[in-house]
Amino acid sequence: MSAPNKSYDPVEVEALKPEEIERMRDEALAAFAAAGDLDALQEAKVAHTGGTSPLALANREIGALPPHAKADAGKRVGQARGAVNKALAARQTELEAERDARVLVEEAVDVTLPYDRVPAGARHPLTTMMERVSDVFVSMGYEIAEGPEVEAEWFNFDALNFTPDHPARQMQDTFFVQGAKGADSDGESGVVLRTHTSPVQARALLDREPPVYVVCPGRVYRTDELDATHTPVFHQIELLAVDEGLTMADLKGTLDHMVQSLFGADMKTRLRPNYFPFTEPSAEMDMLCYVCKGESVGNPDRSCRTCSSEGWIELGGCGMVNPRVLIACGVDPEKYSGFAFGFGIERMLMFRHNVEDMRDMVEGDVRFTRPFGMEI
Ligand code: PHE
Repeated sequence: MSAPNKSYDPVEVEALKPEEIERMRDEALAAFAAAGDLDALQEAKVAHTGGTSPLALANREIGALPPHAKADAGKRVGQARGAVNKALAARQTELEAERDARVLVEEAVDVTLPYDRVPAGARHPLTTMMERVSDVFVSMGYEIAEGPEVEAEWFNFDALNFTPDHPARQMQDTFFVQGAKGADSDGESGVVLRTHTSPVQARALLDREPPVYVVCPGRVYRTDELDATHTPVFHQIELLAVDEGLTMADLKGTLDHMVQSLFGADMKTRLRPNYFPFTEPSAEMDMLCYVCKGESVGNPDRSCRTCSSEGWIELGGCGMVNPRVLIACGVDPEKYSGFAFGFGIERMLMFRHNVEDMRDMVEGDVRFTRPFGMEI
C-alpha cells in the first residue's frame, strides 16, 4: 500500500498516478497473454485481480480522496480494472477452447478400428451340463469324486464283478493301453482307457469309510467310430451312495429328485429290469419325456419328436450296489448297502437341446458352442 494520503491530490497518491495505473493494467495484460494454460492463467488472475493485487490496492486508496478527486481516480482505476477483466475473460475463453480441442484429439476414439479382437467365447455345453447335474447332488450333500481316465483293468472290470471271461468285458469295446486280463490273457492285470465312470465307485469306497455319497463326472472311452450317434470319447456322470439301510426306494427318490431339478417339478422316472455285474438288482432308468409328459403315447394328433411318441426317454443304468463290489472294496455288506447309477451326458445334451449330430460336440467349432452361452 502507498504512503498515507495527506494531500488529497489523486495525482500525488503514488498508486493512483495515471502512468502507475497504466503500468498495472499493462502488467496484468502481459501476464494473461503469457499464461500458457488454464492453471497459469488462474495464477495470473489471483495476482492481478485478487484482493491484494496492485489495482485492488489502488482502488482502496480512492476512498480517502476528497469528493471532487474521487470521480477522476475512480474512472481511471475502473477503466483499468475493466480492461483487465475483459482481457482475462478473453484469454480464459481462448485457453478453454485450446484445451477442448486438445482433449478432443487426445481422447478421440477411432470407431473404425476392429472391435472385440478377443471374443468372450462360451463354455462347452458338455461342461456346463456336467456341472449342472453335479450341482444337484452337491446341494444334497454329495461330494465330487474323480478317477483317472487311464485306469487299471482291475478297477474298470474286476472290482466291479466282471469275471475274466465275463461276456460284458467284451461287450464294452475297450481300448487296452497295456496287456489284457481277459479270458485269453496270461493273468497279468492290464491298463485300459476307462469304459465307464463306475471304476470311481471302487476308488471312492477304498478311499473313504462309509457312509459314502459321491458324484463322479468324467470322460470315458469305447472303440466306436465317430458318427452322428457314436463317439469314441464321451462323458458320463456316476452316482454312488453307500450307507446303512439304503434301499431301492432311496435310489428311486434320488432319481426323481434329479430329473425334477433338471427338467421341472412334474417329472418322474421309471425303472425297467436290466443286468450289470456290479449292481443287483439292476435296472434301466427312463425319465418321463419332458416335452410331451407322456401325452403323445397312442395319440396320433400329438406326436412327439423328442421321445418318438414313446412317452419316456432312456437315461442310463442303475441298481443296488452288488455285495461282491462292497466286499472287493472292504465294505461289510451285512452292515451297509448302496445304490448307484450312471448315464451319458452327450445323450442328455442331444435330447435336451435337439442336437442331432454328436460330431458337433467334438469338432470344437465355436459357432456350435456360442449359443449355449457363458453359463457358470
Ligand atoms: N456303468 C454303466 C454303463 O456305463 C452304467 C451304470 C452305472 C449302471 C451305475 C449301474 C450303476 O453303462
